[in-house]
Amino acid sequence: MSEPLWWQSGVVYQIYPRSFQDSDGDGIGDLAGIRARLDYLHWLGADAIWISPIYPSPMADTGYDVADYCAIDPVFGSLDDFDAMLARAHDLGLRVILDFVPNHTSDQHPWFRESRSSRHNPKRDWYIWRDPAPDGGAPNNWRSNFGGSGWQWDEPTGQYYYHAFLKEQPDLNWRNPAVRAAMYDVLRFWLGRGVDGFRVDVIWHLIKDDEFRDNPANPDYRPDDPDIREFLQVWSCDRPEVHAVIAEMREVIDEYADRMLIGEIYLPLERLVTYYGENLAGAHLPFNFQLIESDWNARRIHRMIREYEAALPAGGWPNWVLGNHDQPRIARRIGADQARVAAMLLLTLRGTPTLYYGDEIGLERVPIPPDRVHDPWEKNEPGLGVGRDPSRTPMQWEAADGAGFTTGRPWLPFSGDHRERNVAVMRQDPGSMLSLYRRLLDLRRSRAALTAGSYRTLEAEGHTLLFERHDGDDELIVALNLGREPHRLALPGEPRPWKLVLSTHLDEATRIERHQVDLRPNEGVILQPG
Ligand code: NOJ
Ligand code: MG
Repeated sequence: MSEPLWWQSGVVYQIYPRSFQDSDGDGIGDLAGIRARLDYLHWLGADAIWISPIYPSPMADTGYDVADYCAIDPVFGSLDDFDAMLARAHDLGLRVILDFVPNHTSDQHPWFRESRSSRHNPKRDWYIWRDPAPDGGAPNNWRSNFGGSGWQWDEPTGQYYYHAFLKEQPDLNWRNPAVRAAMYDVLRFWLGRGVDGFRVDVIWHLIKDDEFRDNPANPDYRPDDPDIREFLQVWSCDRPEVHAVIAEMREVIDEYADRMLIGEIYLPLERLVTYYGENLAGAHLPFNFQLIESDWNARRIHRMIREYEAALPAGGWPNWVLGNHDQPRIARRIGADQARVAAMLLLTLRGTPTLYYGDEIGLERVPIPPDRVHDPWEKNEPGLGVGRDPSRTPMQWEAADGAGFTTGRPWLPFSGDHRERNVAVMRQDPGSMLSLYRRLLDLRRSRAALTAGSYRTLEAEGHTLLFERHDGDDELIVALNLGREPHRLALPGEPRPWKLVLSTHLDEATRIERHQVDLRPNEGVILQPG
């Protein structure tokens, strides 16, 4: 292929801003904190950072309820702090991707206050208002993703408004051209400041059925499932008209050089890939969450990679995600040993990887005492295990009381082992998870086969995965043991000498012969001919 673009060859690192670095002792991370830690990200080998929302917000959904799209919440700092952070990032060659939350605003956003003030307000139609059903109840059966009806009764104006998430997050009406124009200006505001791209929150939600038809029942629903699963989300999202909206967004992005759009999309593969858009005029990267959603099973992952590669539209660039602020930590899901194998998989697959802060130090699920729960979803539907706080705990930098994160009381607790599990300690340990991430990121950048080379799945058995990455003269084999037993794996082609490039065990002990490699339990290796 031609020279890859930055968002193709690069690695995205997600920062949850409340939890990265506090600079003022209030226990909450902020922009000055992020700026202070950019050197670390540069050292680690990230190419771009995506920062979850930093805009003024009542924080009903920790920032995904935006009250002003063109400013910074005081808890995170000011626009000056933002500009300083951005400038420093660019000095270090790091791109900056912001979170754009277009599906809904905060109920405290001036647009919604106006909209709700009267049926005749010019902004009434900026949100989704409906009359009650004939029996006086909600207009249809659409549920909130955080539990309960998606419709909130508004007594003063005698109508319901729709909210796919909290009632404090009313959905905008993206069928209204004035809404679109206003939101595109928001994009221009940040693009003009030098932002390199956006991760677009719940992009598949933007357009709903124009007839507001009831969603069909989900035959697989079980009573202890979260509420949202009771119905299949057929009419409330992923409507065909959404693609025209995304294409417009993309046009705005393309008014500026070298910028990009990521779409947050939880949909089955065949629906997901439609978000590249017709003639690739949609999102540059529709987030691919299959590694998050799949069981940690070699045969299933093998099939999934092949199906994904096959389903990509011509010219569509792949991407892979291992974790984010809404999902259980990878080390929790598959265990600390396999998390190393997962790191190698993420960083050797073809396409842009996104890694989640803290995964590089192997953060696991941090237990949250009941009186410190923040996540509104957990509060709405307690006991189902939907709470996201355990994956959002502060980054652990050093073996100090505040873990180098804060001089105050952190907004969420640290892990019990934070005195050992932190950047300062793990940097010194050449065998640590952090060292593994750094080695992998370095390799990914320096080896053309990994950065933008072709991908070919090779046959492997049992709990192993085997694939080849190839670019010109550069050829690598990746062999991963997803099992807890040793496994002897046949190497492809005529017997020839192979050399170890990297093992997840970060030693040289792997036994390699001309036609086979002996993988140790939970070991992944990268090999090259020679
Ligand atoms: C997806 C975000 O990632 C999640 O954190 C948030 O709660 C919802 N969208 C609503 O904005
Ligand atoms: Mg702070």
